[in-house]
Amino acid sequence: MGVVARTQGLIDAVTKQIETLHHVSNLYYIPNQGDLAAWLVQNSPADRAFFCNSGAEANEAAIKLARKHAKVKLGLEEPVIITALDSFHGRTMATITATGQPKYQKDFGPLLPCFEYVPYNDPEALKVGQDRKPQRRL
Ligand SMILES: Cc1ncc(COP(=O)(O)O)c(C=O)c1O
Repeated sequence: MGVVARTQGLIDAVTKQIETLHHVSNLYYIPNQGDLAAWLVQNSPADRAFFCNSGAEANEAAIKLARKHAKVKLGLEEPVIITALDSFHGRTMATITATGQPKYQKDFGPLLPCFEYVPYNDPEALKVGQDRKPQRRL
């Protein structure tokens, strides 16, 4: 979750940008985004940057990357993602599935398969889950 203070610098930057270009599909190259991606790659261990607009999209991408890695690199057909009970990961279908709170999932089923939940701060529960189907855990 991000909270940004409303400073004059932010207002000036947003005003300048909206006078130039408001929104562009990610089908097109965006010079400012390219510059930021280059900066991120130069100043972090990452070799690529991924941009999105919400926490849910970031988690959705993480879920997709984990599943793709499990299938393509590890050869697993049904990899399981374990998340924490009482966690919150967003409001898309994949992220409400990952969210370990039934109140966010109610009335939206069927949810995605291959998610399991363990309590926070309970390494034994995580270990039991891992031991049950060791070849499928992410
Ligand atoms: C841990 C966590 N993941 C994901 C989200 C979802 O973020 P967004 O509302 O930007 O989709 C939140 C939002 O509070 C969050 O706290």
